[in-house]
Parts: sequence; C-alpha cells; structure tokens
Amino acid sequence: MTEVIDDPREVEQAYARQYENLSREFSRVIQSKRGILAEIGCGKGQLTIPVARLLPHCRFRVVDTFAGAYTGTPRLLNKALLQARLRNRVKVYKADYLAWLWDQYSDSYAGVVSSEFLPEIDSYELSVLLSECYRVVRPGGITVHSFLSPIARNRRQKLMIEADSNPKWTKTPPKEWFSPKPALVLSELRRAGFRDLHVEKMKSNLIIRSDASRSFLHSWDVRTTFWKTHQVELASEGLEVPDWSIISGLKP
Ligand SMILES: C[S@@+](CC[C@H](N)C(=O)[O-])C[C@H]1O[C@@H](n2cnc3c(N)ncnc32)[C@H](O)[C@@H]1O
Repeated sequence: MTEVIDDPREVEQAYARQYENLSREFSRVIQSKRGILAEIGCGKGQLTIPVARLLPHCRFRVVDTFAGAYTGTPRLLNKALLQARLRNRVKVYKADYLAWLWDQYSDSYAGVVSSEFLPEIDSYELSVLLSECYRVVRPGGITVHSFLSPIARNRRQKLMIEADSNPKWTKTPPKEWFSPKPALVLSELRRAGFRDLHVEKMKSNLIIRSDASRSFLHSWDVRTTFWKTHQVELASEGLEVPDWSIISGLKP
C-alpha cells in the first residue's frame, strides 16, 4: 500500500518505517546466526537499532567516521542506543571502515552488513570492501548490503535520484553513483568468494509531496534551486523513495 506524505512533520516517522521493514528482511536473511555482526557506516543507527532488536542473540560492532555532515551523529546514535537498551550489545567505533576492517581478525565475524553505505564509495572501494568482508567473516557467515536502487521505476523516483546525485542540485555529490547497480554488487561478491548470492527487492511505497518534499530535500542537502525548478511537479506528484535492494552472500 502506497503512503503519501504531505506534512513535513511526518517524514521522519515514515522514513523510520522504511528501516523497520528493511530490518525484518535483514533478520530473515541472517536467520539464527549467532556471534558478532559488524556494520559499516552505521550513521544514526537507522538500521542498527531495529535489526539489533530483532536479533537478540547477536552482538554488534558498528563503525562510522562520523565526519563532515555526520559529525553530530554519535550523540544521536548513543542516545538512541540508550533508549533502546542496546548499549551492552552494540559497540560503536569511530574510524574509517577500511582501517577498521584491516584491524579485525580473519574468520571472526558471523556477518558484515551495511545500509546505504555503498552509495558513499566507488567501484574500486566496493571491490576492496567486499574482499575484506569475505576475509573477516567466518565460514558459514554472511554479508548483507542494502541500498536504494539506482534504477528508477517512475518519474518520481527518477527525480529523487537526480536531486541526490547531480552536482547541479546536491551539495554533497556522490563519488561515482547514486548507488551501484545490483548486478555489479553481485559480480563483486562472487569475485570476492561469496556464494549462495541473493537479491531481494523491497518497494518503498513512499511518496513525499509538497511541503514534505521541500523539507526532505533540505535534509538530504539538496539546493533550494531544485525545489524552485520543480516546484509544480513536487507539489502535485512529489518524489518517491526508490526501491530497496538487499543483496547477500554466504562464505562457503
Ligand atoms: C548515507 S549514511 C547511511 C547511514 C545509515 N547506515 C542508514 O542506513 O541510513 C552513510 C554513512 O557512512 C558513513 N561513512 C562514509 N564514509 C565512511 C568511511 N570511509 N568509513 C566509515 N564510515 C563512513 C557516513 O559517516 C554515514 O554515516
């Protein structure tokens, strides 16, 4: 069922529901694995918290640089972990993901996961990241990565991808892509050694319109010129969050 948000005050809750849905998918894929899960680029814990709630037998080590636009996030993350009573199961590391991974023992993790982290890196880094995931995960362990698909299904999704990736509009242009194509992630997982690869698609079914789209774009660091240029369309049709891709692989 599609949800249409016009009121800026409802955007945060609606977006949190996306992560609730995503976390159910993660916990289904991770199933009953026990041990330690690492999360790369945890941010405010948007995925960490709902996933940790659904996987009570797992401990988490979550890493983020918390740099640039994200400097305020550790405070928000720690507050959210405290409220969710997860401080004892989730350990937060402030570090660059690669330096941190290099410090981890081989075959030591039940899994390595990420959400909306692959959009932050480029194709070279993707290949290095997945090789490191393979190294630190124990045999039988898993890696799972979710991100918003770069392939728009309609004009509203196309507009959202354009706003977030074209340097004309966004103040924080991506290194290479809005997000990698699922086929590339699959081939890189295979090259790294992962098997039993799966791609799940999850429709966001979330349309953000009129004033809500304006505040949403602001929170995504999109220049006001984008809003001004597309005002009529944003008021009537709005933006749509692209479909989620959730890609996983097992270490044999
Ligand atoms: C788009 S946010 C995703 C946050 C959260 N996981 C989510 O699903 O919404 C990307 C996160 O990656 C982090 N990040 C970017 N480059 C990084 C790096 N080199 N090492 C560790 N974290 C990094 C950012 O600080 C940010 O919190």
